[in-house]
Amino acid sequence: MSDEPAPPPLLRTQGLVKTYSGEGAPAHAVRGVDLTIRRGEFVAVTGPSGAGKSTLLHLLGGLQRPDSGSIWLDGERVDSYSEARWAVLRRRRIGVVFQFFNLVSNLTVADNIELPTLLAGSNARQARSEREKLLAELGLEGKERSMPGELSGGEQQRVALARALVNHPDLLLADEPTGSLDSKGTREVMRLLSRFHQRGQAILLVTHDHRLASAADRVISFFDGRVADDATLGAGTGGRGVSSVLELKD
Ligand SMILES: Nc1ncnc2c1ncn2[C@@H]1O[C@H](COP(=O)(O)OP(=O)(O)OP(=O)(O)O)[C@@H](O)[C@H]1O
Ligand SMILES: [Mg+2]
Repeated sequence: MSDEPAPPPLLRTQGLVKTYSGEGAPAHAVRGVDLTIRRGEFVAVTGPSGAGKSTLLHLLGGLQRPDSGSIWLDGERVDSYSEARWAVLRRRRIGVVFQFFNLVSNLTVADNIELPTLLAGSNARQARSEREKLLAELGLEGKERSMPGELSGGEQQRVALARALVNHPDLLLADEPTGSLDSKGTREVMRLLSRFHQRGQAILLVTHDHRLASAADRVISFFDGRVADDATLGAGTGGRGVSSVLELKD
């Protein structure tokens, strides 16, 4: 019917504010962010060090609470959710890869990746098959029995990405997921993100790498806790697509 209301965006924020106050002067990390992410959209966030990008992602993933402002996921207000309800969202609907690795250090690579699927109710066979597929896609076959401490930084990043994607979340929040990767590792990660995007899942990717940002549908420049620019990359003006990144050479 023509008068049906439009579906709500996947994610919307209004007036998000986060200030850290510890010793010394308070850090106004996020100073009023209004943001809308539609289903399936691939959005890159760039900006200088200290601009507040990681803080924004932590707020959107429920790892920190805003001082003020609101967050809606699929039209439902979630900013006041308890830790436990956020944990369920992160298990089922929002995959997160943070800047500093967050693997469980005393679990093997395989168990790190399978854990979220098992917690979400998959059986062991499904969890294993999904894990095998992701490790192969990320060039990490043979590492399943390793402990995180036995992997390089780049390998740990890819395991963290596999873990974030294993439950097919609607939204992936990724903070510099290629930060310590060489160009081969970067290509593998981008290929996986591209596949994820093609399945209609949304990505919010923080990156300092302009080549990666140019693969997104939209680039948000974050500066001093605010959105300084928000550009949709149309044909001919950027948005060269993931294929341009897949061609990167060392
Ligand atoms: N836990 C914390 N306690 C106090 N201040 C913090 C904390 N985390 C971040 N900050 C401050 O908040 C501001 C924003 O930090 P944030 O980590 O969000 O920046 P960023 O854009 O992710 O930077 P980078 O590109 O270096 O990762 C900075 O001034 C930082 O020093
Ligand atoms: Mg950061």
